[in-house]
Amino acid sequence: MTVRVGFLGAGLIAHFHALGLHESAEDVAFAGVYDPDRSRAKEFATGWGATLCTTEAEAFDECDAVYICTWTSEHDRLVDEACARRLPVFCEKPLAVDAPRASAMADAVERAGVVNQVGLLLRYSPAFGFLRHLIRDPVAGRVMSLTFRNDQYIPVQGMYASDWRGDRERAGAGTLLEHSIHDLDILEHAVGPLHSVSSRSANFHGLDGIEDSMATVFDLEGGGVGVHTSIWHDVLERPSLRRVEVFCERRHIVVENDWTGPVTWLTSGSQERRLEGTELVAACRGADVPVGNPDGAFVRSVAAGSPASPTFRDAVRPHRLVDAMYRSAATSGAPVVVA
Ligand SMILES: NC(=O)c1ccc[n+]([C@@H]2O[C@H](COP(=O)([O-])OP(=O)(O)OC[C@H]3O[C@@H](n4cnc5c(N)ncnc54)[C@H](O)[C@@H]3O)[C@@H](O)[C@H]2O)c1
Repeated sequence: MTVRVGFLGAGLIAHFHALGLHESAEDVAFAGVYDPDRSRAKEFATGWGATLCTTEAEAFDECDAVYICTWTSEHDRLVDEACARRLPVFCEKPLAVDAPRASAMADAVERAGVVNQVGLLLRYSPAFGFLRHLIRDPVAGRVMSLTFRNDQYIPVQGMYASDWRGDRERAGAGTLLEHSIHDLDILEHAVGPLHSVSSRSANFHGLDGIEDSMATVFDLEGGGVGVHTSIWHDVLERPSLRRVEVFCERRHIVVENDWTGPVTWLTSGSQERRLEGTELVAACRGADVPVGNPDGAFVRSVAAGSPASPTFRDAVRPHRLVDAMYRSAATSGAPVVVA
């Protein structure tokens, strides 16, 4: 069965998913695309062979599954529409501008019984998948300390040039919600639940409600402590980058870059090891670490009518962590236990 995929929103991430679909080996076709920015919709339609739609309804009418790739504040309304039509739905992260709305969206797709997937793409990353594998190896021992840094130039400029990321009504908040929700999802996926958080934030760019520097000290339910920092700076020459350093009782691990590594680790009694690129992917496959193309995986689930991953429900927890961090920052760092 050919899955006809429609797009609401034709910006940066829509093109990224279109490329993922194009590169997947799945039986997929582009259906309609709608964006109120007509030039963007036209460019997407021309580039990917999609039908240019003049209304949202037309884009929904044309497809078997829909991608919601608009700015964040539009996600919940459009997901409701997909549910009303019983359409499988891929929605970008953050699901919503706050955790209660994200939770309501997870309820809605479950009530409608539709295949659903959220754009928490790091779940498919070889670097983070292998990190999880190394941490869970009993040889490593328990996690004692973790440092997670995520930095990006503030995306109201450069290749993103998105004014909505400077508008709290449409983005919800700044660097933590908009960018680092990925980090919190993959952090808990790799290491286990955070117990409490103590956060501080700063706002250098002066955009109302859009923090551009956020730091959190956290403790893990399994023991151990960590620090997370999220920064939107102005070094336009620097790509968006993450760096994670983990000390387990008997293993030290460093991950650089989001996808291809390198991942470097040293276990007591052994030599340091380092994997990157295709070697890292091969090691993931050998260790049964899921890696691959999230768009191909979504279409496969739609065709089979089977659950996709990660689901909207998976996204609720990182939303709760983000909300807890903002609550802590509002009181200059009082610890908040994450519900
Ligand atoms: N998973 C990831 O790694 C990742 C990366 C980038 C962005 N995102 C998320 O994807 C979403 C979009 O980000 P982007 O970088 O593509 O932004 P963008 O500004 O490039 O594109 C967003 C587009 O949505 C359109 N739009 C707004 N309301 C609409 C509606 N009702 N119907 C159709 N189109 C509408 C806008 O006109 C704009 O063209 C955001 O939620 C963002 O957080 C996720």
